[in-house]
Amino acid sequence: MAIIEVEELTKIFNGDIRAVDGISFKVEEGELLGFLGPNGAGKTTTLNMLSTLLKPTSGSAIVNGHDILENPDAVRRSIGFVFQDPTLDTELTGRENLDFHGRIYGLKRKVRVERIKEMLEIVQLEDRADDLVKTYSGGMKRRLEIARGLLHYPKVLFLDEPTLGLDPQTRRAIWEHIQRLNEDEKVTIILTTHYTEEADYLCNRIQIIDFGKLVAVGTPNDLKSRLEGDIVSLVFKDPAHLMKIHPLFKGKDWVSSAIPVAGDGGNAGGMSRMMEIMRRIARGRGGMGGMGGLAGMGAGGGHGGGGIRIPKRYKEMIAKAMSSKGGLSAMMKAGAKQLNLLVDDGGHRIPEIVKIVDGAGVELESVELHKPTLDDVFLATTGRSIRDERGSFTETIRRRRITRSARGMRVRG
Ligand SMILES: Nc1ncnc2c1ncn2[C@@H]1O[C@H](COP(=O)(O)OP(=O)(O)OP(=O)(O)O)[C@@H](O)[C@H]1O
Ligand SMILES: [Mg+2]
Repeated sequence: MAIIEVEELTKIFNGDIRAVDGISFKVEEGELLGFLGPNGAGKTTTLNMLSTLLKPTSGSAIVNGHDILENPDAVRRSIGFVFQDPTLDTELTGRENLDFHGRIYGLKRKVRVERIKEMLEIVQLEDRADDLVKTYSGGMKRRLEIARGLLHYPKVLFLDEPTLGLDPQTRRAIWEHIQRLNEDEKVTIILTTHYTEEADYLCNRIQIIDFGKLVAVGTPNDLKSRLEGDIVSLVFKDPAHLMKIHPLFKGKDWVSSAIPVAGDGGNAGGMSRMMEIMRRIARGRGGMGGMGGLAGMGAGGGHGGGGIRIPKRYKEMIAKAMSSKGGLSAMMKAGAKQLNLLVDDGGHRIPEIVKIVDGAGVELESVELHKPTLDDVFLATTGRSIRDERGSFTETIRRRRITRSARGMRVRG
């Protein structure tokens, strides 16, 4: 039975940012669904609408049998939510935070005391429950937030990047909690994440969202097996070499795709961002009307439509890139040093691949062969590498802040 049914859900901000663009999907009771997508894809906005924190521009959804528009209170009572940004009161103790939440949900004192004890056990915070939250480590705060989200025994739990910034060990521990909740407590869970290994490990099913639309749905294995063959990653010494080599593989019938991956040096975040904008322009989406839209990009504004705000410096770079070959290679220089080829029988093709690269007089830094992973699926569907998902400057700062607080405080915790 579907516990969540979403129909043409849409959110448009400020008249022109299509954060969520008419998505429809169902979630079966007991599922653990992963919601993946680049920065700004619309994940948080979707969860916020489903949890009634945000009103859709159009479309509808039923959660636990309640319509999000007609019966938001009933929806809220039946769900739990762990937000992307921490929302604990750090001047209160862990127990006080939970107690406060229990009161909001109208739990009687006796029930509150019992549930708080139970949840603190689940997240292993019993011994720190009476310390102020400001003395907690990032991982402890995250665990307390999960405990809070569960206090009223929700049937559906929304987790927005539950392990952002946590160290691998704490992340593992949280995975176990999440898995246990899903399997033992039968809580249906939707979680968003930027960690594909997290989605791969935890989720029965994954949805990838990009520019407010679903671009791929399936079990982790389904998604991976859609990329038939092997991935051969070529890393070049110089990004300019990638430009030279890329066309040599594009025409080969044994190469199903050849995708440049932004490297982690230089301005990879900016590069991803630009690729995103370029793709939008190429698709003629987001109110920019294909190439014609470029003319309008020169002056003021700053809106690329469809959720993308284009900073002036990018506009200039894009305009240059579109008008000359040199411009495009300048863009590539911004970071891409790696080319991922999806090929049949990769192991046997490597000598041929190396020969082609050699023949073009280009030096390789490394060649690597692997079976398609979810990262590759992400790259193939969104054109971006999830590892390079840095997004905007402010986003980078925000993430760094959360990560620092998670790491830094851990020492004390
Ligand atoms: N309150 C708001 N006002 C205007 N625009 C907004 C608002 N909230 C979100 N947006 C825009 O909507 C788009 C989708 O944002 P959203 O937060 O849903 O993305 P996300 O997929 O959660 O990204 P991330 O991975 O960075 O958390 C972005 O372009 C964002 O800038
Ligand atoms: Mg988000």
